[in-house]
Amino acid sequence: MSWNARALDVLAAGPPTPLIDFPVPAPGIRLLLKDESAQPTGSLRHRHARALFRQAILDGLVAQGTTVVEATGGNAAVAQAWFARRLGLPYIVVMPGERSEARARAVEALGGECRFVTPPLAIYDAAREIDGHFLDQFGRAAPHDLGEELFGQVSPDWVVTGAGTGATSATLGHWLRSHHPADTDGPVPSAAGRASGAVGRDGPGTAENRSSGTLEGSAPGGGGWRCRVAVADPENSAYFPGWALDTPDYVTGMPSRIEGIGRPRIEPGFRPDLVDLVIPVPDAASVAAARRIRDVTGLPVGGSSGTALWAALELVERMRARGESGTVVSLIGDAADRHLATYHNDAWAAGKGLDLGPHLAELRRRTAVHPSG
Ligand SMILES: Cc1ncc(COP(=O)(O)O)c(C=O)c1O
Repeated sequence: MSWNARALDVLAAGPPTPLIDFPVPAPGIRLLLKDESAQPTGSLRHRHARALFRQAILDGLVAQGTTVVEATGGNAAVAQAWFARRLGLPYIVVMPGERSEARARAVEALGGECRFVTPPLAIYDAAREIDGHFLDQFGRAAPHDLGEELFGQVSPDWVVTGAGTGATSATLGHWLRSHHPADTDGPVPSAAGRASGAVGRDGPGTAENRSSGTLEGSAPGGGGWRCRVAVADPENSAYFPGWALDTPDYVTGMPSRIEGIGRPRIEPGFRPDLVDLVIPVPDAASVAAARRIRDVTGLPVGGSSGTALWAALELVERMRARGESGTVVSLIGDAADRHLATYHNDAWAAGKGLDLGPHLAELRRRTAVHPSG
């Protein structure tokens, strides 16, 4: 067997991550959290890494012995170092800022090399200068396997995700538009699925889908299962204003406080045409919702999982108010003990000027008390 063939075997899809029932006091409405922290490297970035390596090998850009390079300070580095080790490839990641043992440890434990660069924005040029293949998760955001897996598990009315590179929302939107689940074992259409334009401008802080006809056009007979993709977007991110104003070059120039999602500009991997709704979420709401997930599941999730949950609860609330039934899936992007010192820490939140109180009260109202706490 050639190295390439063996490598593609290593990069085959892993076991599905679990769906966790999240209690909501809304009869007939189910809220499920898709727990990507169950991936071998603890985050949704595991799927991105697999897809990036796969695409690079198929395109002939990575072969046996190629040094693989990335520029990132986050979970992507750990996931990529994990795959590089399994493929026997040297791996170098350029991280922003001064050397941090905490950030380097996980990558180095997997045999990767970390190089720290200042100013932070210089990481991309520094990565391009290294002799090897720059994976470039933002420039080449490859579709991954979440759609195949998730829609094999459940047929929801909504899936809610954050957007960093844009790959996850694009993957889900693309899968939904290129498959016909109602032809196979799709569920009886729910009220939300049947109703055309069920989401409009009446919800606070949301905008109507500018391309809502696209998916309906692909559904058999226009009356089958219909699932929509909502992107939950944190403060300072360009995705919500850029999407709502139909301005693809919208720039905020501001970093997101919610790790992994929210970008100062619209990245090339974000596909507004494959997204049905973008919901802006205040950072205090994201942090409060991350805590609510931890209260209920015990998982020390990152802020991005809270952003998605808050937006998912807005959709649940709207469905409930309209007397609709159905299923909403919200992604858990990652969980790690390091988040205990930030999103789950009162002093950190106060230092950032985040007033969680009103949001925590709202979350208690919108989510039922879990029996085991
Ligand atoms: C909840 C959630 N959704 C989505 C993403 C990923 O977004 P993308 O695929 O756009 O990079 C993340 C990444 O951290 C996340 O935590």
